[in-house]
Amino acid sequence: MKTAITEMFGIEHPIIQGGMHFVGFAELAAAVSNAGGLGLITGLTQRTPADLANEIAKCRDMTDKPFGVNLTFLPAMVSPDYPGYVKAIIEGGVKAVETAGRNPQQVLPHLKEAGIKVIHKCTSVRHALKAQSIGCDAVSVDGFECGGHPGEDDVPNMILLPRAADELDIPFVSSGGQADGRSLVASLAMGADGMNMGTRFIATQEAPVHQNVKEAIVNASELDTRLVMRSLRNTERVLTNGAVERLIIKEKELGDKLKFEDIIEEVAGVYPRIMLEGDMDAGAWSCGMVAGLINDIPTCKELIDRIMAEADEIINQRLAHFQGHAVSA
Ligand SMILES: Cc1cc2nc3c(=O)[nH]c(=O)nc-3n(C[C@H](O)[C@H](O)[C@H](O)COP(=O)(O)O)c2cc1C
Repeated sequence: MKTAITEMFGIEHPIIQGGMHFVGFAELAAAVSNAGGLGLITGLTQRTPADLANEIAKCRDMTDKPFGVNLTFLPAMVSPDYPGYVKAIIEGGVKAVETAGRNPQQVLPHLKEAGIKVIHKCTSVRHALKAQSIGCDAVSVDGFECGGHPGEDDVPNMILLPRAADELDIPFVSSGGQADGRSLVASLAMGADGMNMGTRFIATQEAPVHQNVKEAIVNASELDTRLVMRSLRNTERVLTNGAVERLIIKEKELGDKLKFEDIIEEVAGVYPRIMLEGDMDAGAWSCGMVAGLINDIPTCKELIDRIMAEADEIINQRLAHFQGHAVSA
């Protein structure tokens, strides 16, 4: 399939694997790229720019297809060595960057000068327009259903995507709640040029996370996520578990007086224990409502091939049928 996104990133299928803390290592990025999508290494999971440089080199050994790096801009009080990470990306010859979180303006000139295509992930039309105005090449429009940080507007993709299509001049992909061929065709119908998936890619053979994490996603339904940290204006959609229930009780008790320190045990530094050791109650971890649509743990190639075959069938059979063009009913 050819879209503005496949052309922009030099990929075969319009499918991107979003950056994911302690999931987006070289193994997953390479597997997605080898399957014809765009795999992304998650920059900040690498403790230092030198570690990121090594991870990029490792990914390059595993694929000769294009892959990218996610650079997440955290709330202002935390400041990783962004210039160092940007240098590692540029020197590593990476040609695609997904930015997310705060406005990426500070790094944009360096990335653009190096010929890197930048797709900024955002959760509202106004942030998407801002990204367009500062020179981002594309945006990833992340709806309310997404795993991770959906922002504070709570607009789901059925509204957000057509709104983005009405306003934007640059190409965009849908993000949040995407899982299969139906998601892809619906995204294209609403004006997107592809889709970004997070949670779906965790439940794959190559995702380098503990089997418990993959099984938790397969066993979860669309009712099993919760929103936490709303009063801190840092809302996150997570899979419910013992730690999340404790966190929600604290939120109810403290209300607007809740501070980050009150919930530090449930949210800070928990990812290695969950993702690598499989300690599923160690804390709150991002997961999308789309878990309800995930029932297996395929390879990335099986997943992407299946999505593309399903999309083809929907377009050429189901939709064509409504117009009387179906090859077979
Ligand atoms: C476990 C997990 C960790 C994530 N970590 C990050 C991250 O570090 N940076 C980022 O920009 N997005 C992160 N995301 C968001 C994804 O890149 C993607 O936008 C989101 O998962 C899309 O929604 P979906 O899960 O419904 O597909 C994370 C998502 C998950 C599920």
